[in-house]
Amino acid sequence: MSAPNKSYDPVEVEALKPEEIERMRDEAFAAFAAAGDLDALAQAKTAHTGGTSPLSLANREIGALPPQAKAEAGKRVGQARGAVSKALAARQAELEAERDARVLVEEAVDVTLPYDRTPAGARHPLTTIMERVADVFVAMGYEVAEGPEVEAEWFNFDALNFVPDHPARQTQDTFFVQGTTPDGKPTTGDESGIVLRTHTSPVQARTLLDREPPVYVVCPGRVYRTDELDATHTPVFHQIELLAVDEGLTMADLKGTLDHMVQALFGPEMKTRLRPNFFPFTEPSAEMDMVCYVCRGTSVGNPDRPCRTCGSEGWIELGGCGMVNPKVLIACGVDPQKYSGFAFGFGIERMLMFRHNVEDMRDMVEGDVRFTRPFGMEI
Ligand code: DAH
Repeated sequence: MSAPNKSYDPVEVEALKPEEIERMRDEAFAAFAAAGDLDALAQAKTAHTGGTSPLSLANREIGALPPQAKAEAGKRVGQARGAVSKALAARQAELEAERDARVLVEEAVDVTLPYDRTPAGARHPLTTIMERVADVFVAMGYEVAEGPEVEAEWFNFDALNFVPDHPARQTQDTFFVQGTTPDGKPTTGDESGIVLRTHTSPVQARTLLDREPPVYVVCPGRVYRTDELDATHTPVFHQIELLAVDEGLTMADLKGTLDHMVQALFGPEMKTRLRPNFFPFTEPSAEMDMVCYVCRGTSVGNPDRPCRTCGSEGWIELGGCGMVNPKVLIACGVDPQKYSGFAFGFGIERMLMFRHNVEDMRDMVEGDVRFTRPFGMEI
């Protein structure tokens, strides 16, 4: 039989009186209402619902009560705690909603505003093509060689076997650079012996004077001619030159190298053809054509499918080539009895035009990123 709880002490359970419980509950309500943000609410939560909060402490006292009082106090405390946690959740939701609304306003992004970050640029397609072509040869063991754009007339013309009155030297083609006489007077352009190089071929002569054969070099670079800028001409353009000098090189090596290049750049079914031509620095010399990159020859004799790129010829002219003229070898101190060589050179702008259907050369020089960007960032 159980006896009444003799140790029941009403003083100790003062905290369980209805007014006390109500006060604790109302203090919690007030603290939640006063919490102005979620951090403050977290503190109020600890103070009023945590293990040492008045209501939790009161809850612990319940066990000491006699059964009847225990039930009543239990109900009171339970209801008060329930109301407190409901009030807490309601305030929590309110403050979260407030925060979300504020964040939406504070962190709003107006996607219609122009962005002020420096936009990523794009490499110029001429640079990309030049590097691609050079890479084809670097992969075969060629070295990249460079020469100056302000060049001695001797390298640009004489060393390459241009006769003194060759028309290309005349001022309508060549930019002559004004110089100064030893006593400081300005010379006229064509007395100075200095030109803006009209092609990358002088790098051939520079390289041969600079190193002993075997020589295998590829020379990309900027060149100048006195042309007006229009849809098909520009006074500043780019060429890539190739020179191989070794024992026993023949036209067959030249042809194989050209075929390899167009296959590497345009696809495995590509090939080249040579047509006789004249250049002072090669003998024999040829014009090199490649199969039309667009129609691949299918437009020839096929009036239903004409090709604008090659004019339905099936071939596109790429540049000049030939076996290095022994006179050039001699001028550069190379023994033509022992060594032979082949060379070729072509314009990068032309290649960009037919490879990417660029119709106006002015687009290439105007520096508008709307032109360069579609070519992407190929590196
Ligand atoms: N330098 C010539 C030009 O600008 C192109 C050229 C032709 C380069 C024949 C060569 C070559 O290396 O062998 O028109």
